[in-house]
Amino acid sequence: MERTFAIIKPDAFAAGSAGQILARIYAEGFKVVGLKKLYLSKVEAEGFYAVHSERPFFGELTDFMSSGPCVVMALEADNAIVKWRDLMGATNPAEAADGTLRKEFGSNIGENATHGSDAPETAAFDLGYFFNGLELL
Ligand code: RTP
Ligand code: MG
Repeated sequence: MERTFAIIKPDAFAAGSAGQILARIYAEGFKVVGLKKLYLSKVEAEGFYAVHSERPFFGELTDFMSSGPCVVMALEADNAIVKWRDLMGATNPAEAADGTLRKEFGSNIGENATHGSDAPETAAFDLGYFFNGLELL
């Protein structure tokens, strides 16, 4: 079993899609080990996406991630990191495959409905940024 970190981003939460996305998560066989709604500050969003701090879209990304509430989750499954990335689909919803969450719920490359850790190291960072041990029992 592996754990990964996921976000229902502010666009999808504001659109009322959190329930449908959570239903897909359960239908695909993930165990939801942690889940909470948060309204990130700009500074908290910048800390989370620090790996992208030199990218041209960093300001836009952190404005968006702090623009409204989101839902953060710890998901468990066999091969959870790749399994969740596959369920999300490509970063740009216009390029995401049919049946993926970003295809169904994303609007554009910035407002793309969900986040997912992309490797074991980033999953460890992401999970530790948002959850303490007691929240993942
Ligand atoms: P994420 O980290 O949110 O799961 O997304 P990802 O791995 O598929 O994509 P990544 O390259 O890590 O980019 C992080 C987020 O930044 C926004 N973005 N905007 N305007 C742009 O060109 C651009 N490129 C990326 C997206 O919200 C992307 O999910
Ligand atoms: Mg990423």
